[in-house]
Amino acid sequence: KKIIIINGPNLNLLGKREPQIYGSLTFNEFFETIKEKYPNVSLEHFQSNIEGEIIDKLHEAGFSYEGIILNAAAYTHTSVGIGDAVAGIETPVVEVHISNTFNREDFRHQSFVAPHAKGIIVGFGLQSYELGIQSFLNPL
Ligand code: DQA
Repeated sequence: KKIIIINGPNLNLLGKREPQIYGSLTFNEFFETIKEKYPNVSLEHFQSNIEGEIIDKLHEAGFSYEGIILNAAAYTHTSVGIGDAVAGIETPVVEVHISNTFNREDFRHQSFVAPHAKGIIVGFGLQSYELGIQSFLNPL
């Protein structure tokens, strides 16, 4: 199974960015652990702070991969373009967030991705990504 994790803006700072909200592990530390745990899954990771690069990656993966796990970060709440990209591709997209966006500021309650996502996993820390992977491995 080919699955890609796509991370949006500021998630390159994981580990040092607001650790009380996002934890103190870097994404790469977490990603190494998760790759060891799921050796039969072909797992890739892409991060960009640039909206158009995230859209390009969705287009690239969206017709050939089995699953996309998308944390569009702040663009979740602002980007019609990313929402449209998710709507326009074939690969199912699971939206994930590290923090529980619903117990934070009002502007984080809106998602342009959610209406087009297969499902949403919010608030489990980095485990949100692992739950996203599992959702593709164990469809009921
Ligand atoms: C986030 C939540 C967003 O509101 C925020 O802008 C982020 C990270 C999360 O994973 O909790 O950058 O997507």
